[in-house]
Amino acid sequence: MSLTLLITGTIFLPLTVLARTATDVKPRQAGTTVTVNLDQRYQTIDGFGCSEAFQRAVQMSKVTEEQQQYTLDLLFSTEKGAGLSILRNGIGSSPDMSADHMVSIQPKSPGGPTSPPNYVWDGSDNKQLWVSQEAVKRGVKTIYANAWSAPGYMKTNGNDANGGTLCGVGGASCSSGDWRQAYADYLVQYIRFYQEANVTITHLGFVNEPDLTTSYASMRMSGSQAADFIKVLGPTLERENLTSVGINCCDPEGWSSQAGMLGQLGPVDSYLSTVTAHSYTSSPGSPLNTRHRVWQTEAADLNGAWQGAWYANGGAGDGQTWANNIYTALVSANASGYLYWIGAQTGATNSKLVRIDGNTVTPSKRLWAFGQWSRFVRPGAVRVGVQGAPSGVRVSAFQNVDGAVAVQFINTGAAAASVQVKVGGGESFAAGAATAHVTDNSRDLEDLTVQLEGGAAAASVPARSMVTVVLRQETPPA
Ligand SMILES: *[C@@H]1O[C@H](CO)[C@@H](O)[C@H](O)[C@H]1NC(C)=O
Ligand SMILES: *[C@@H]1O[C@H](CO)[C@@H](O)[C@H](O)[C@H]1NC(C)=O
Ligand SMILES: *[C@@H]1O[C@H](CO)[C@@H](O)[C@H](O)[C@H]1NC(C)=O
Repeated sequence: MSLTLLITGTIFLPLTVLARTATDVKPRQAGTTVTVNLDQRYQTIDGFGCSEAFQRAVQMSKVTEEQQQYTLDLLFSTEKGAGLSILRNGIGSSPDMSADHMVSIQPKSPGGPTSPPNYVWDGSDNKQLWVSQEAVKRGVKTIYANAWSAPGYMKTNGNDANGGTLCGVGGASCSSGDWRQAYADYLVQYIRFYQEANVTITHLGFVNEPDLTTSYASMRMSGSQAADFIKVLGPTLERENLTSVGINCCDPEGWSSQAGMLGQLGPVDSYLSTVTAHSYTSSPGSPLNTRHRVWQTEAADLNGAWQGAWYANGGAGDGQTWANNIYTALVSANASGYLYWIGAQTGATNSKLVRIDGNTVTPSKRLWAFGQWSRFVRPGAVRVGVQGAPSGVRVSAFQNVDGAVAVQFINTGAAAASVQVKVGGGESFAAGAATAHVTDNSRDLEDLTVQLEGGAAAASVPARSMVTVVLRQETPPA
């Protein structure tokens, strides 16, 4: 690629010069120099994702086979779509699948917490097993299984909805007994059902928005109540040889709620894998005080009327808004993962990245905003230092496991900005190839012209766009 560009440059520049009078020729626009520093290393990235919980996977399964494949490619393909790398599944707690309920693998109480369990597996899991298998086919390796609640019979209120908490954690004693071990065993069984279907669950969460009581599956827990359960879940996973499954906690409604819960999780810190929080009541603005990786696991424009534009009015549904939201989470709040709420679903709001309407599947620019990150910042990439962005342009940089460096530019201004990207530090990174990819109101992750000269990649970042420049190492001669 770089070779072609260099040759193109050498051949066409003189021709252009010949065709003009000498006075027409302007000096080459060098652009603002942006320097990546590979020696300045920050957090490791796990990825970007979405969910098809609450029967959204079932909605996806109702379009034609061709449109199903198209939808799955849009979400998970690194060639045809956003290349999302994390899927968040909902572990069912409901007795049935009515409305958008996620049915449980043990819909009826086995009798008591120490009675022999009575699990049932329908081979579908609210169609999430199918979506998981399709995601895995497209390269997804991180599957986060997250229960919104324990089944009702394990809880203080006898219902998987309307709050209540798990019998046996502090302040929650029930006449039926302590259900913590039974709930841990239940979550292990869910992981086993997926294992038998060749899908490896890598992360496990046992509660969702524990700070909210609502009419759908919900379970209240303070940080210390969550710790009371992790005390049982951690050793259970160890006994079951499932130590490769990381425990995530606690998916509250907002970033600051999680900051509050963290203090109470201290005693079980060694069992934790990933700290998780949503963006609804407060979004990621600064790092959480933890040594663990942190994911923003649910954000969306829940109520805005569907619109697919990159820039309409700077509102909550714009692609550009989500490019900026992801930027802030990664750069200012040290996040290692960033997930939208729903990948694809029906309905008229922006709560999803892709809209299903009858048999018509339509991606939004929110999807392509995710793609500008997810396609080029692959799991295991490390955020690195970068300096010198032109004014009005936000810049970030990552080095992938294969050595490739991906640099993001978000230009919210009304004028294009020329940049020249140089990579410094590391063990003398010598750029041998560069590509650039752009999303704006008229383009979806399209290739953009980039010139590699003297180890620097020069590109023009269009007004109101996001551009990702990828520089690859020179491969030593064979
Ligand atoms: C899982 O993988 C094994 C080995 O490749 C295969 O025999 C089995 O049929 C697969 N099971 C499912 C449910 O795909
Ligand atoms: C876990 O691994 C140990 C050692 O290999 C083995 O003895 C034990 O049976 C395993 N337990 C389960 C539940 O698979
Ligand atoms: C960022 O997160 C990592 C874990 O991924 C942690 O080790 C590091 O201390 C965090 N940095 C800040 C500034 O909080």
